[in-house]
Amino acid sequence: MDALRIEGGHRLEGVVRISGAKNAALPILCAALLADGKSTFRNVPALRDVETMAALLRFMGASAEVAPPIVTVNPAAVNRPEAPYELVKQMRASVLVLGPLIARFGRAVVSLPGGCAIGERPIDQHLKGLEAMGASVTLEHGYVKVTARNLRGADVVLDTPTVTGTENLMMLAVLAKGRTTLLNAAHEPEVEELARVLNKMGAKVEGAGTDVVRIEGVDSLQPVDHAIIPDRIEAGTFLVAAAATAGDVLVENCQLEHLEAVAAKLRLAGAGLVREGTGVRIRASATPLRPVEITTAPHPGFPTDMQAQLMVLMCRAGGQSVITETIFENRFMHVGELRRMGAQIDIRGRTAFVSGPTPLSSAQVMATDLRASASLVIAGLMAEGRTEILRVYHIDRGYERIEEKLANLGAKIERFRGRS
Ligand code: EPZ
Repeated sequence: MDALRIEGGHRLEGVVRISGAKNAALPILCAALLADGKSTFRNVPALRDVETMAALLRFMGASAEVAPPIVTVNPAAVNRPEAPYELVKQMRASVLVLGPLIARFGRAVVSLPGGCAIGERPIDQHLKGLEAMGASVTLEHGYVKVTARNLRGADVVLDTPTVTGTENLMMLAVLAKGRTTLLNAAHEPEVEELARVLNKMGAKVEGAGTDVVRIEGVDSLQPVDHAIIPDRIEAGTFLVAAAATAGDVLVENCQLEHLEAVAAKLRLAGAGLVREGTGVRIRASATPLRPVEITTAPHPGFPTDMQAQLMVLMCRAGGQSVITETIFENRFMHVGELRRMGAQIDIRGRTAFVSGPTPLSSAQVMATDLRASASLVIAGLMAEGRTEILRVYHIDRGYERIEEKLANLGAKIERFRGRS
């Protein structure tokens, strides 16, 4: 399996261009199932998760051509509204086919995603919304079997502002009879982007990006041609990598309004961020940063997908930083590996206390989940010596050509065939 070798201690300088958003592309590829005909998507990142989603669409009988940054999907030949375990276990976001399959074909058989490294990740809210709109749901042998004779709009109160739950129910409601109101909906920019695409297809979705999303069902939707928004988490990851190496980097194609909470914490820590062209320029000095307090929360709060990256940055802060993870129950998998590199991190419940400044030393480390892997890459950029990161397939799920982009900024990083 591929691994990354990083020689740390080099400042990042130059320009990096952010790719399309993984967590926008995945629901949007599923939305293509709702229209008869070929949809074209642009600025789609070349990621493993995009390939996995395309494989799932093909499994159902759709055609899906992946030629990054272009992906086309034509669901005309779909004859098997099913998502098998071997695909769903690779990528939880496969559950996003539930809404469109039921809306379009009246039935779906989708493997329960099961847990993953960062938590149990239930989909009870997705299923509650399906039943509220008239679908009948049974769980057997690890699969969700759903049929729906006549979908009708309903008021659905979500117990938690689930991102993919909001997206699934939006895609279900657009073809249901009557009005649906989603209360306590997720606000993430990727939810807004999905609504933008659905409305371009002829849907009537209002309020996406707020607590209350209202959907008026329509009879049918048209194929779409759409360019995906940039990936705010990739952008945030590069901003942190620049600050971690006391660098000076222009992160192009970065919408700062999607990253306000991250930008605020980076500024509090002492990094300088200014808008420049289509992006943001970040500068940080070699002196210790200021420690910060972070609690992850649904958008527009501090994103859980940036928690691991900020944690490793705080190893460069002079004092104690406090980081509380409220979204997932097991999202400190990176701490053990960072400790092996010399980080001083104590965990009490869902809170990590990071003491600094602590120089990191290189080590051989193992990636466990997508964003934890990103924090290990940043640690490797900071550490004296040569760090090797194994199982980088986790990184390839969500970061396009990460070693190429980092090398273009002056990092000494290469990919090699690892032993495990
Ligand atoms: C989305 O996952 C993202 N994935 C995740 O990004 C992201 O970390 C997460 O939102 C939170 O922002 C995609 O968009 C493809 P949730 P999702 O449903 O939708 C609980 C990455 O790194 N919950 O908002 O699965 C759940 O257990 C990935 O790109 C229920 O209890 O997250 C969690 O504690 C990782 N019941 C919380 O809500 C449900 O029915 C938030 O989960 C659904 C969720």
